[in-house]
Amino acid sequence: MALLEVENLVSGYGKLAIIQGVSLAIEPGDFGTLVGPNGSGKSTLIKSIVGLATVFEGKITFDGSNITKRKPENIASLKLGYVPQISNVFTDMTVRENLEMGGTIIRESVQRKKLFDRVVNLFPLLSSRENQKAGYLSGGERQMLAIARALMAEPKLLILDEPTAALAPIVADQLFQKLSEIRSELNVTIVLVEQNARKALSLANRGFVLIQGKKAFEGTPEQILKDTEIIQLFLGELTI
Ligand SMILES: Nc1ncnc2c1ncn2[C@@H]1O[C@H](COP(=O)(O)OP(=O)(O)O)[C@@H](O)[C@H]1O
Ligand SMILES: [Mg+2]
Repeated sequence: MALLEVENLVSGYGKLAIIQGVSLAIEPGDFGTLVGPNGSGKSTLIKSIVGLATVFEGKITFDGSNITKRKPENIASLKLGYVPQISNVFTDMTVRENLEMGGTIIRESVQRKKLFDRVVNLFPLLSSRENQKAGYLSGGERQMLAIARALMAEPKLLILDEPTAALAPIVADQLFQKLSEIRSELNVTIVLVEQNARKALSLANRGFVLIQGKKAFEGTPEQILKDTEIIQLFLGELTI
């Protein structure tokens, strides 16, 4: 059974449909990358899944539960982690406080402590800056904290919306490396939205191309990267 299944989704904002009949499935253990030009609806698709956009038609199933039209606060407790593109950490709070906030849905303190140690172990840099306010972190460190914070809720699926958008290439590479580790070592299924298409597809086992609110192509990353038509027609403005 798919971990995440989106069926014939029509969604958007107010009365405006942006996503126009998208279906996709993510299997447990997948690393799925979603690419497409600016404004094609990638963020809207993700927001529809986590309850932040309006669903007009279709069905979204996560881990066996129907989560269509569910409120965002009821989605986090389902082990679905979401790292939005902006405002993803509390800048006035310390690194430690941000991480602790991320773990509040874990009831057992022993388990919370275990998660904290595991997450800090994955991001050693955060442990050395535990008592600093998140607002003083660099862009890359902030993204790492946002991811670490999401991991504190022990998600089965982690959805990230353009986490490398404002980062220098070398920092983006470090982040991509961490995502691979999160998948292989923590067994977290990943859906990554990226402009940095070639790199993001190289980490994935499934790729999706979204154009004007519709799924224009789906396949292995190799198929997408080899298809010159897709690259020229659809990914022209992306970094391939
Ligand atoms: N809150 C909103 N209200 C109305 N329209 C929006 C809102 N957010 C995004 N849009 C519109 O939805 C379309 C898709 O945007 P978005 O999902 O952000 O695309 P992408 O993430 O692929 O760049 C764009 O035309 C954008 O202007
Ligand atoms: Mg976006």
